[in-house]
Amino acid sequence: MSAEEVLAQVAKEVSVCKKCALYHSRKNAVPGEGPADSEIMFIGEGPGFNENEQGRPFVGAAGTFLNELLAEAGLKRADVWIGNVVKCRPPANRDPMPEELAACNEYLERQIAAINPKIIITLGRYSMGKFMPGAKISSVHGQMRRVGDRFVIAMFHPAAALHQAALKPAILKDFGELPKLLEQARSALKHSIPGQTAEEPKQDPKQLSLF
Ligand code: URA
Ligand code: SF4
Repeated sequence: MSAEEVLAQVAKEVSVCKKCALYHSRKNAVPGEGPADSEIMFIGEGPGFNENEQGRPFVGAAGTFLNELLAEAGLKRADVWIGNVVKCRPPANRDPMPEELAACNEYLERQIAAINPKIIITLGRYSMGKFMPGAKISSVHGQMRRVGDRFVIAMFHPAAALHQAALKPAILKDFGELPKLLEQARSALKHSIPGQTAEEPKQDPKQLSLF
């Protein structure tokens, strides 16, 4: 299957999925969107009210702010893939629960494998936790780490920055520094042998799929 076909298949499956309790609050699943060959994947938390209505990621207030942040980083929304760790809206926008993250993880793994991005940018604690287990967002935000053959950059969640005024300058600064990090990642990947992790000790691949 081509990357496009995998993404379309995942979108079809999540639209009728009942693997966790979140299907009860789903109007439209939000599989994520963007080019199947995106260099960069942004991964948020889960659909909110507007996303559940439209079936598209980051289309509410957090999405408007994310669009501003992308502009700050010199990125076009149409050039990146944007999705979430859970594809169905948690009731009243509560945090996703561990069993929901675990149930939905398979879809995200298939999306990552199909797109095979160089860089994953996590938005908020839940997607950060998938790639940087045990890290604290308050200390790692804006930082990049090598995870296997890719780089992962942890960012605050745009909605958190909208609700906590103190985080707004920090997230703007982190996105402002993104072009520099992207260049570093591209250059490191160009000079490394696929399958080998030069900068960081090899991580246990099993660990990467745990939340
Ligand atoms: N917040 C998220 O984490 N994801 C969305 O798609 C919208 C808001
Ligand atoms: Fe299925 Fe994920 Fe929706 Fe749960 S959140 S019902 S696992 S698609």
